[in-house]
Amino acid sequence: MTDLAALEAAWSERRSKRAFRPEPIERGTLDRLFEAVQHAPSWCNVQPWRVTITMPPVTGELAGALQAAARSGLPHPEIAFPLEYPSPYREHRIACGAALYTAMGVAREDKAGRYDAWLRNYALFDAPHLAVVSCDRRLGPYAYVDVGVWLGFVVTAAAALGIDTCPMASIAAYPEPLRARLPIAESDVILFGLVLGHGDDAAPANACRTTREPAAKNVAFVGV
Ligand SMILES: Cc1cc2nc3c(=O)[nH]c(=O)nc-3n(C[C@H](O)[C@H](O)[C@H](O)COP(=O)(O)O)c2cc1C
Repeated sequence: MTDLAALEAAWSERRSKRAFRPEPIERGTLDRLFEAVQHAPSWCNVQPWRVTITMPPVTGELAGALQAAARSGLPHPEIAFPLEYPSPYREHRIACGAALYTAMGVAREDKAGRYDAWLRNYALFDAPHLAVVSCDRRLGPYAYVDVGVWLGFVVTAAAALGIDTCPMASIAAYPEPLRARLPIAESDVILFGLVLGHGDDAAPANACRTTREPAAKNVAFVGV
């Protein structure tokens, strides 16, 4: 078993990247990554993650279509996004946005700057690959939990391979460009995307750092 200190170091060093260099990841490396994370656990071992991964030039074509959709229509994800974040989630969300906008040099009152930063999601941050992650809707919320577990494995394993990532619920807001171009089953619901590539270390967005609460805020013990 890997020792916890090595795992924790890998987890604490990993960051979502939001600006990528254009060079693609070799197909063999992507195969290695997605083969390794098949070890993720799931309820009754149903392994419900369904993943479509784009390679260039398809990624760029999809980014063009997503940006057009985002510019011209309101978000309409297949699973409703939260409308409100009650406390303390609201404060976490605000701090997360502030960290990103500060890194990017976008002022809070700069509406145009914030809109442009939001649109960068739909340019897929110029990443060479997008994984669109879906799940059979007939399985319901516990299978979505399974897919979340798998996502945790993916971002960690990618980091171990020197691959940068950013999970992206934002792309689920515009399902049509995804369904028009990718083989996503009718019975599936699109959950989120995940961009993969090599982050541009010089890009301001990649200087963004988020923080975490101590575990006592999330975890309670009862009894002795
Ligand atoms: C399911 C999921 C969806 C996410 N969607 C987006 C997204 O659409 N756009 C984005 O910039 N970041 C997205 N993120 C990244 C989070 O903002 C990021 O994980 C969080 O702020 C913690 O920062 P870190 O990943 O750098 O540790 C998403 C993360 C998860 C797990």
